[in-house]
Amino acid sequence: MYDKLLIELSRPGRSGFSLPELPPDYKGPESILPSSSLRKDQPQLPELSEPEVVRHFVSLSAKNHHIDKGMYPLGSCTMKYNPKINDDMANLPGFVNAHPYAPIDSVQGTLELMYNLQEMLAVISGMDYVTLQPVAGAHGEFTALLLFRAYHLKNKQTRRKNIIIPDSAHGTNPASVTLAGFNTVKVPSNPQGGVDIEKLAAVCDDETAGFMLTNPSTLGLFESNVEKIAAIVHECGGLLYMDGANLNALLGITRPGDMGFDVVHFNLHKTFSTPHGGGGPGGGAIGIKAILEPFLPSPVVIRKTEKDGGYSYTLDNNRPDSIGRVHGFYGNFASDVRGYTYIRMNGPDGLREISKTAIINANYLKENLKQDFALPYDFPCMHEFVLSGDNQLAYGIKTADMAKRILDFGIHAPTVYFPLIVHEALMIEPTESESKESLDYFIEALKQIAKEAKENPEIIKSAPHNTPVARLDEALAAKNLDVSW
Ligand SMILES: Cc1ncc(COP(=O)(O)O)c(C=O)c1O
Repeated sequence: MYDKLLIELSRPGRSGFSLPELPPDYKGPESILPSSSLRKDQPQLPELSEPEVVRHFVSLSAKNHHIDKGMYPLGSCTMKYNPKINDDMANLPGFVNAHPYAPIDSVQGTLELMYNLQEMLAVISGMDYVTLQPVAGAHGEFTALLLFRAYHLKNKQTRRKNIIIPDSAHGTNPASVTLAGFNTVKVPSNPQGGVDIEKLAAVCDDETAGFMLTNPSTLGLFESNVEKIAAIVHECGGLLYMDGANLNALLGITRPGDMGFDVVHFNLHKTFSTPHGGGGPGGGAIGIKAILEPFLPSPVVIRKTEKDGGYSYTLDNNRPDSIGRVHGFYGNFASDVRGYTYIRMNGPDGLREISKTAIINANYLKENLKQDFALPYDFPCMHEFVLSGDNQLAYGIKTADMAKRILDFGIHAPTVYFPLIVHEALMIEPTESESKESLDYFIEALKQIAKEAKENPEIIKSAPHNTPVARLDEALAAKNLDVSW
């Protein structure tokens, strides 16, 4: 009953607070608003007791699927568990109460954390510098492309207007390219799901500003030709960008900087376990090679060595070649604290274990599911893999139907219909934070769905059966938000 609207639950006279009685002659503070703007009647607010309000919101939170409730195997999105200690640290009063305009001397701890996070991310990625200003993966892409532009302009390479992108790329890549004023040039994938090297060499020329590569790709495959790709792109004068959304597969194993990339973005809200997906603002830091340092967004957090050998931290605003700010103040600082905590809690060996476990978990699912579902790229995968719903299409079941049926098992649907190069795609990323039992439950659920497709397709076509709402018009819902009563 508590999932009704608060106004429906309301009963006159109920309240969830107790305040001392006002003196009878109390008139309240003098209003600074003109009397025409003052309301004449009491607002019609719901009247409820505290437990009713708590039950209402707890009941709403349980209706939605979230990572604290069950598995969330979204491919290329790394919906991993967000350890609660991250929030405890982000909520420390010294961090929460720090004001962006506070004198530098009074926020040394805050700057120290940012500086140390930059340094740790640089080591993890094999890059020379890191900026924490971008606040999403897409924002990191955009920032990197502005750096590319500034670099080429500084070198008087004004013809370089094209960014090459493989056909398996995430949609944010070409969107960032357009937003940064470049043109997209597409290269196809080869039959192994990697970049077609010959086609890349054919399009790379003196109009190429750079190449954006997701590694591992959105097919969950490591790009084994990455060094050849770096050589081709650099030889034609371009810069190399790694979309690091899938960095969860590489931690402590290999580094984008060592592979030849000039820039990589980190999704703090994926790899480094800060919440996202409606759960909080993100962190899209980027790591860069030294050639791009002059162009970094301003201000840059720097460390100085004092006379006594100790350190102090400050913000460097004096950067004539900087692309300027890409976000108000310094990015999403609370996201930085969560990412920093995650890295410190796990340490170098722990981070390597995370990636290894993520890879093993994905391969375990892939091997167990490939008898029932088509697997167009049947290779050892990294942290994710992409099935196709083609086998089930023969029974009139689409991938969208199976995604809805998965919800009945208390599991969020995987990413569907992406990457575009896989027909009826189901992209699955279990992450390292799922136990063997949880992985087995997922396998059983999918095997049951494959069986139902043959024996009882109606149950899939009419799914979901256990959720508060069934099939919504998602495009309409996103365009016509109804957020009030
Ligand atoms: C491969 C890839 N690149 C880029 C992005 C964009 O990241 P964000 O959602 O943080 O903007 C995503 C997001 O899912 C992704 O999967």
